[in-house]
This record gives sequence, structure tokens and C-alpha cells, in this order.
Amino acid sequence: MVLFLWLFAASVLCVCQCQELDFPPGFQFGVGSSSYQVEGGWNVSDKAESIWDRYILENPDGIRNRSTGKMACNSYRLWQRDIDMVAEMGLDFYRFSISWPRILPTGFSNRISEDGKNYYNNLINGLLEKGIQPVVTIYHWDLPQRLQNLGGWTNPLIADWFVDYARVLFTLYGDRVKTWHTINEPWIICDFGYVFLPPAISDYAVGRLLCNKHVLLAHAKAWRLYDTEFRPKYNGQIAIVNQLTWIEPAGQGDEDIAELAFQDTIGRYTYPIFSKEGGWPQRIQKIIAKKSKEEGYDFSRLPDFTQEEVELIRGTYDFFGMNHYTSRIVRKRRNDETIHTYILQGSRELEIVFETRPEWKNTSSVWFKEFPQGFRRILQWVKRSFGDIKIYVTENGYASDSSSLEDYNRISYLRSYLEQMLLAIKEDGINVLGYTVWTLMDNFEWIDGYHSKFGLYYVNFECPNRTRTPRLSAKYYASVAKSHSLNI
Ligand code: NOJ
Repeated sequence: MVLFLWLFAASVLCVCQCQELDFPPGFQFGVGSSSYQVEGGWNVSDKAESIWDRYILENPDGIRNRSTGKMACNSYRLWQRDIDMVAEMGLDFYRFSISWPRILPTGFSNRISEDGKNYYNNLINGLLEKGIQPVVTIYHWDLPQRLQNLGGWTNPLIADWFVDYARVLFTLYGDRVKTWHTINEPWIICDFGYVFLPPAISDYAVGRLLCNKHVLLAHAKAWRLYDTEFRPKYNGQIAIVNQLTWIEPAGQGDEDIAELAFQDTIGRYTYPIFSKEGGWPQRIQKIIAKKSKEEGYDFSRLPDFTQEEVELIRGTYDFFGMNHYTSRIVRKRRNDETIHTYILQGSRELEIVFETRPEWKNTSSVWFKEFPQGFRRILQWVKRSFGDIKIYVTENGYASDSSSLEDYNRISYLRSYLEQMLLAIKEDGINVLGYTVWTLMDNFEWIDGYHSKFGLYYVNFECPNRTRTPRLSAKYYASVAKSHSLNI
């Protein structure tokens, strides 16, 4: 009898606990990549040069081991294998990006590349044939060099150039692509791009803030185009994708600095779109306006929005796209302290120093420290800041310098981050609808070259046909997706 009761209690407990680890019905699992990081085929047919193509030619030492994305994973040729890999893992969707200079060699819609058009048609159709949803990012950092020569993201006209490009994609693929991401990580595009990432124009004071405004306008105009002309026909969804690093006060008394750091990093790219009132985060706006005056500018370096622009941008989302990897603690700069590199060490503008806690685990990249609880906290921050909004986690993954197929560290990272996300869904009632592992396979990790590997699949970069082999993490992720649970 006692044994019976014990077994009964244990099974009830298990059912409860097991269910706690189940994902809600309809929750979707996917995997991501981006054009420059995987495609290669950098100069095939009529493809034009992007800012990354140009950067690797002109600044080979700017990339670890002088690596390039000229061939990358050769997905330009091996796209069928890529589809098979996503299918092997039984995933719901594949997030990839379209290369603007591949599809529009002039940068504009006056000429559409046949090869470019067919390449993405094949990829989209191939995915759909296997029951995998294509999730398409319109811009993941490979700006046509020609547009850069015309001022790139600092030229206000780029908003219209971007819409011109987006219209081509909606027209060509909108019947089959139901989820669009306009722009991936605008914070990196502007705040890093006008310091050290391509176009690597060093104009921290003005360039990055002009870029900030125009990237928001470009996104908003493309969203509105989709909303008015394409949604009625195709009924899809579209949003921007932001990178959200969790930020917390280093110690007591640093709370206000942490709030400021939020506003300056995530806030400049999210408040104008997602907050009720729209426009810039007000504290940042005031600080930069004041500083600009002190520095002798007769305009604010953070360009003002007209009321019309505030309205244009406000509310242009169908969901919140979130890339999340890591966390930071913040404190005020000490008087004698120099902040060398914006972002890795802090914000010069606001005299904020970024650090990490010693107990957070390292990954192969200095930028990414492992702190899974930060994931739940940043999801809570989104709900606190913008209300009960639909969220898709559009990237999360683990950087390793090892090629090993037995990637237990990656499995442990994914397991603990997924668990925090489940807690956010179940305990905090946060409306997360899907999750995307970065990344399908090892690829060109920007200025880190091929050093940091995020892949569920290992890629042999020594071998011209770039063979791909599943790691243990691919099998792990496949079973999470299949069982719809972490209870595996
Ligand atoms: C975010 C970017 O979207 C992606 O391109 C990059 O590879 C990952 N983070 C990892 O750094």
C-alpha cells in the first residue's frame, strides 16, 4: 500500500514537473543564418559589392586571421544541403537573410538580378517543400557598397532606397514568405558601424546617431508599405529585430546608471517603435542635446524627429524580434578612467562603464558571457517597458573556439537559456511564441572570422565543398523540438 502510494505520488509529481518543462502548444522552433555569413559566391554573375566585401579587401587585418566571407559556407551552391539540415532537425522555420547587392546589383530596383532572384526562389521553395517556413531578414548588414558611397545609413534618402528594395522582395516572395524581419540589430549597424565595424567610418559623435534615426525611418517605411499594400494580399507579419543585452547595476546606487544604459543601448532603437508615446528616450535626448550645445553645435547630435516622423515610426511592429546572448553590469565611470572602446567597455557619451561578473562563464568571444538568468530578466524588461507584446526570440546561441562534434558546453548553454525562457513564459506570463538558435552551421563570424563557432553543424572550412556534420547539439535541439519539451 505504502509502495503504491509512493508510486502514485511520484508519478503525479513527474507529470507536473514534466509538464512544467513543456512548451506551449504552437510554440515554434527554428534556426538562423545570414547571407554574408554563409553564402559565399561574393562575385558570381552580376552580384555587386557589399560593404563587407569592400572591407575585407581594404582592411584584411581587421578580421581575425585575415579571414574573408568570399566562400564562407558556400551556401550559394550548397543551399539544398542547408535545407536538408533544417529538415533533419525537424524544425518549424529557417531564418535567413537576403543579400541586397545580390538581388539588386545597382542597389536600386531598376535592375533585378535573375541569378539572385532564382537563388532565393529556390531556397524558399525548397524549404516549403519540406514543410519549413522561410523567415526572411531583409537587411543583415551587407549594404551595397554603391549606396555606402552615397552616404549609406547617414543619408536620409536611404529610407526610400530601403523601401524600394523591400518592395522588390515583397513582390517576388511575399506570396510564400509570411514572416519578415526588416533590419537585424540596428544598434550594431550604427553604434558599431560608425566606430569599427564596416563601413568602419569613425564618427561616433554624429555618424552613429544619424544612422540611428535613418535606420528607424527605413524600417518604419518598409513596415508601412507591407502593412498597406502586401498584408491585405498575403496576411504575413513583419517587425524589426533588436539585440538586447541584459544590463544590471554593478552594485547598490547604480540603478539609475543601469536605467540610463538601457535607454542608450536598446532604448534608442526600441522606444521610438514600441513605446506608447514614441520618439527618443527622453533622458538620452536631453543629455545629448545639452552636450551638443556645450560642444558648440547649434543642433542636437541626436537628430530630432518631426511629429510626423514620430507618428510614422510609432507602432510599426507585429511582434518584438529579440536577439539575446549575454549580460553586463554597469557603473559610473571613475574620474581617472578612460573608456577606450565603446560597447565593449562602456559608453563614452554617458560615462558608463560596462563589466561582467567573474562568476559568469566565458565563451570564445569576449563579448559573450554566459548568464542564463539575464534572458528571463530581459524578457521581463520587454513586458515591463512595452506591455504584453508578442515576442519571437530571433537569435540565441553559444560561441566556442572548438570544432568538436561533442559540444556539451553548447548543449548546457542552450538547455539553461531555454529553461529561463520557459520560466518567463510560464511563471511571468510573457508571450514568447518562437525561438531561434544562432546558428545552423559554423560560419563567418564577422571580424572574429571563423574563430568563434556557433554552429549546430560543424563545417569543414579546409575542404572546398565545405562539408557539414551535425554536432551533438543538433541532435539535442532536434529532440527538444520533437518532444516540444525540455524534459528529454
Ligand atoms: C548577432 C548577429 O545578428 C549575427 O550575425 C552574429 O553572428 C551573432 N550575433 C553572433 O555574434
